[in-house]
Amino acid sequence: MATEQVIDQDREAHEAFAGVLRFYELAKRQEWQVRDLPWGEIPPIPEGKGSPERKARRKDMWRSVLTQQLQADILACEMSSQLLNIAPEPEAKLYYSTMVQDESRHTEAWLKLIEEAGGTAERDPHLDELAHMTLESDTLEEKVFQMQVFYERLIISRFRLIARASRGTVLEDLCNRLTTDDGIHHGAGMAYEKVLLRNADAKTKRKLVDAANRLLPTFVEHALWRPKERAFIGSAMRSRDLENLKKDLEIGVRLAESLGLDVSDVELPIS
Ligand SMILES: [Fe+2]
Ligand SMILES: [Fe+2]
Repeated sequence: MATEQVIDQDREAHEAFAGVLRFYELAKRQEWQVRDLPWGEIPPIPEGKGSPERKARRKDMWRSVLTQQLQADILACEMSSQLLNIAPEPEAKLYYSTMVQDESRHTEAWLKLIEEAGGTAERDPHLDELAHMTLESDTLEEKVFQMQVFYERLIISRFRLIARASRGTVLEDLCNRLTTDDGIHHGAGMAYEKVLLRNADAKTKRKLVDAANRLLPTFVEHALWRPKERAFIGSAMRSRDLENLKKDLEIGVRLAESLGLDVSDVELPIS
């Protein structure tokens, strides 16, 4: 290979990773500590009004919301450390070293908040299954796509919803921080996925769409699942859940399209 060609390829690789490195710098600037949260100054979760029964029911509902976020962040620890281990490029590893720290800090914050809220509730079995599908998927392209491009983009709107319903609490403060952090995780994933797909052949791209089609039915089950603590609001919320789910799936399709994937074969499990 001619020297010029090697230099060109080096420069191209350097430019491709500039995006990932920008997110590394951003992650370092945004870093926070669990002790920065307003512990003891404001209530941990909304206190609720009305009869003692009503208050207890609201508390159970919040405990179940916190439990699922704790579950999601513990799984995110496992997924981000897998990415740190298998991403071959030093730039990508550098970025993932910050994401591992973020996910474990998120876990620490949820653990402390749950302790103040009275303990954990029921786990979402579909969320465990989703994480395992991503952990066991064959390629780096699939893992980055599922975790950072898809899940971490969708979780942002969940944090906004929770923050809006929990004004003036530690929970709201935490959700605002997580909105920023997961915005960085998603942005970094988009930047890295673009690098990974730069020279990908049609077969690799096809495999990504196939993996998404295998994952989507479980994602739908996860989105519509309600623990017993929130079963009482289940039927009233179902049409809103379905609407949110539809929007989420449309966002996923648009993101895949923006990465140059052929989305005509994506099979959305709801109409
Ligand atoms: Fe997280
Ligand atoms: Fe994250």
